[in-house]
Amino acid sequence: KVVILDFGSQYTQLIARRVREAGVYSEIHPCTVTAKDVAAMAPSAVILSGGPSSVTDADAPPFDPAVFDLNLPTLCICYGMQLLAHSQPGGSVAASTDREYGRAELSVLADVPLFAGLDAKAGHTVWMSHGDKVIAPPDGFVVAGRTKNVEIAALANVERRMYALQFHPEVAHTDDGERILHNFLFTIAGLTPGWTMASFVETELAALKKQVGDDEVVCALSGGVDSTVVAVMLHKAIGKKLHCIFVDNGLLRLGEGEEVAAYLREHFDLNLYYIKASKLFLDRLAGVTDPEKKRKIIGTTFIEVFEAEAAKLPKAKYLAQGTLYPDVIESESFRGPSAVIKSHHNVGGLPEHMKLQLIEPLRELFKDEVRKVAAEIGLPDFIIWRHPFPGPGLAIRIIGEVTEERLEILRRTDKIVQGELAASGWYRKVWQGFAVLLPLKTVGVMGDGRTYENVAAIRVVDSLDAMTADWTRLPSELLASMSNRIINEVKGVNRVVFDVSSKPPSTIEWE
Ligand code: XMP
Repeated sequence: KVVILDFGSQYTQLIARRVREAGVYSEIHPCTVTAKDVAAMAPSAVILSGGPSSVTDADAPPFDPAVFDLNLPTLCICYGMQLLAHSQPGGSVAASTDREYGRAELSVLADVPLFAGLDAKAGHTVWMSHGDKVIAPPDGFVVAGRTKNVEIAALANVERRMYALQFHPEVAHTDDGERILHNFLFTIAGLTPGWTMASFVETELAALKKQVGDDEVVCALSGGVDSTVVAVMLHKAIGKKLHCIFVDNGLLRLGEGEEVAAYLREHFDLNLYYIKASKLFLDRLAGVTDPEKKRKIIGTTFIEVFEAEAAKLPKAKYLAQGTLYPDVIESESFRGPSAVIKSHHNVGGLPEHMKLQLIEPLRELFKDEVRKVAAEIGLPDFIIWRHPFPGPGLAIRIIGEVTEERLEILRRTDKIVQGELAASGWYRKVWQGFAVLLPLKTVGVMGDGRTYENVAAIRVVDSLDAMTADWTRLPSELLASMSNRIINEVKGVNRVVFDVSSKPPSTIEWE
């Protein structure tokens, strides 16, 4: 495996994904781990990420330079390169207040394995994003590349198998990035590709079987791809020792809960308990308009209902959930967990007295890998490609009070948005698309009469991981068709608007 040390670059996860795409398993660890920790992980290679700090700053993230003495193939990117130059004899870094950002042309200056296959003369497009730069190479390193603004854009010590790049090979804008990473992984570190989702499923099923033994497991099924993959994998590993609880909180999209439950019942002989609890949720939400209060009520009610069901399964020792790798990295980052913007509700918050141990079969995977696993274990497209759906459901897409009547209006509106996205082929291209019901009435005219009805918003975004997002430039004909259908078919809506805000500064959901 490859160990990636994270210095806080926005591209760290991208490095991990690129390595995995090459068929090599990679893990991200905070830069604060010691050389001893890294050695204990027994990696085949180490990659140092970029980062926003300056190596000369007093508050630069702590790092153990003995990592460079582990005799491992090492690739230092951007901040990692400056760290190498700063900590090795002979090297030196100049602080700078200007940042260089964007495209640059790299000239290859030395015939080193990292640049094998790159034409020595031609200018190779690379992507830069840095402030400081290296002004003297450490002893034993040659300057292997330059750009117009950066004389030392690449460093190499072929014998020690150590390389450093001022640019970012992991971003798509760096033309030969993939070749450079492959040279590092396969030629320099001598790795062979073996990390595939098929091998992941095989190893994970065996591990789950062993871990659970004769005990039983409960899991909360939400209908989304993550929890469905967890349930089906566990079912394959331990069969009837798995119990799936589906809490229908009445805040689901039209037909959503039943659809997934029906599919699972039909194709897998699962213990599936479908709990209809919508009345309880709606009663408790009555009169509540504050978004955080809504989330809290839904979160605690979910736990209460889930706990009551789980109590009927006294043999259960484990709770399985669909935690993904980005959540794990976030909570282990050297910066610490980020500020709570919205209190996300998931089963991680189950009360301690339930005494269930966690099983998280997907905690090493990115979302795109989960989708590949879903295909690997035979799930259908409608589950694999389902857009993310928040735990609090439609309650946070109805701005203001949640009532059965408003839920019905939103369900019908949302159904049209989903249908139009699917029919036009856009559903698969976007991260998420949905409708929001606003607490606002406006005047309209229908036939000869004046109407005074609700406004619905359409939100469709592109994103890689939901951390940042941009609104999707949908064709205006598609927007027109959504709008026409909504206003004509949904009683109670006479106006439709399209949300053109990016995240940040907005969020994907409206509450
Ligand atoms: P925001 O609105 O924070 O959403 O930009 C980011 C992503 O997370 C989803 N989301 C949630 N998912 N429980 C969840 O399981 C929640 O409480 C929750 N709130 C937002 C949202 O749909 C988007 O994909």
